[in-house]
Amino acid sequence: MVSYEELIEKAKEASLNAYAPYSNFKVGACVLTDKGNIYQGCNFENASYGLSICAERNAIGTAVANGETKIKAIAIYSPNMYNCTPCGACRQVISEFKTDETVVITVAGNEIITNSIEELLPGGFTL
Ligand code: THU
Repeated sequence: MVSYEELIEKAKEASLNAYAPYSNFKVGACVLTDKGNIYQGCNFENASYGLSICAERNAIGTAVANGETKIKAIAIYSPNMYNCTPCGACRQVISEFKTDETVVITVAGNEIITNSIEELLPGGFTL
């Protein structure tokens, strides 16, 4: 079983590929699926600012493209922020693919922080 620290390392690695020429705010994410596979993502921005895609949704989209829709854990890292947590839109998207054990992993200095999606998105919308 891959550790939380290893998932943060993979998120950190992905943040190196962030394409963020407008905000200069780089983010990396790493999804661990129920099958034990990992998928990395970084944010990528656009001259039409609103089209920018967050690292979390990029990683989740890659998991889905590989036929995986159950997130066991997702790690998020930004070199630009102490404890970078997912934005509201990404919380909703993580929620779509959550399981009973989904853990959101972030990092505050040397400390690994874990939260459930219910803690991050109380009362989230579902159909
Ligand atoms: N961003 C992410 O990739 N994930 C987050 O959780 C927060 C924000 C990106 C979007 C944009 O490219 C940049 O960070 C600044 O908002």
